[in-house]
Amino acid sequence: MMANKHTSTARAERSTPVGVGCHDAPMMFDGWKVLVTGASRGIGAACVRALLDGGAHVALVGRHQRGLAEAAAGSSRAAVVTADLADADARASAVDGAVAGLGGLDALVLAAGVAMHTPFEALTESAFRRQLELNLLAPLMMVQQALPHLRAGRGSVVFVGSTLADRPAPTTTAYAASKAGLHNATRQLAAELAPVRVNCVSPGVVDTAMTRAVRLLPGESMPEGAELEARVEGQLEALRSLHPLERLGTPEEIAAAVLHLLAAEWTTGSILTVDGGLTAR
Ligand SMILES: NC(=O)c1ccc[n+]([C@@H]2O[C@H](COP(=O)([O-])OP(=O)(O)OC[C@H]3O[C@@H](n4cnc5c(N)ncnc54)[C@H](OP(=O)(O)O)[C@@H]3O)[C@@H](O)[C@H]2O)c1
Repeated sequence: MMANKHTSTARAERSTPVGVGCHDAPMMFDGWKVLVTGASRGIGAACVRALLDGGAHVALVGRHQRGLAEAAAGSSRAAVVTADLADADARASAVDGAVAGLGGLDALVLAAGVAMHTPFEALTESAFRRQLELNLLAPLMMVQQALPHLRAGRGSVVFVGSTLADRPAPTTTAYAASKAGLHNATRQLAAELAPVRVNCVSPGVVDTAMTRAVRLLPGESMPEGAELEARVEGQLEALRSLHPLERLGTPEEIAAAVLHLLAAEWTTGSILTVDGGLTAR
């Protein structure tokens, strides 16, 4: 589906966004062309909704047409681009598809990610590579490919990192390493790519499908029925208790931080922690 076609890729006029969170905020992304990965659900989908509400044109990237179309909710300013971002050629096509669909590219929100909870002793090389590929390599290579367009446009990138980058937790060696790489690259690219701005939101635990996926021990089989429900609830309760604010975050709370960084014109290299106090303990 798509999308308005824009013909000009000339440097977009910089309209200073004002008043995040005040009454005139809703259209502050008017005319922006934004590629969002992980757009089919969770944090990425919340970013899509907030950007569309703010007047942006959005290319939604993910593997499944149906989930993306649902997230686009019939908006005439949404373009759906299907791609498996673990595949280098598909990543490149996704950026090209977004540029073609939107008529340029001002900004990237790179929220696609995968988390596999595995004790280190049982961590396979393929699971390690998968998490590094999708969580670290894919977003960085997409920035590289989009760079000429970002330089011609408003030039803003927001990664979605994780508090696990700086705070070790059992079973997350590969995931945490991938997010630590992303946090590091945020600062490094901010310095190297200016005036393109590069920032990152570092969430605590957010109530999404990723968080609700049952974390099985090696050799354990998936519970069913009431046992499964109890297991998920127990897992969520344990995760909630990590936060001084005593609840999980919502995708919308993370999206608000993403949009703040997207538009914050004198902020680059920033890692904005949004974690219900998790890392304050
Ligand atoms: N949930 C949390 O507690 C939490 C905390 C800190 C950071 N984060 C980070 O926030 C981001 C979003 O997480 P979430 O909680 O919203 O997760 P989610 O609900 O599981 O969504 C993950 C998204 O990534 C996409 N994706 C996964 N594999 C992909 C692939 N190979 N190619 C293209 N897209 C792929 C999925 O799209 P399809 O499956 O439709 O292709 C989906 O849209 C991730 O980077 C995650 O690491 C999450």
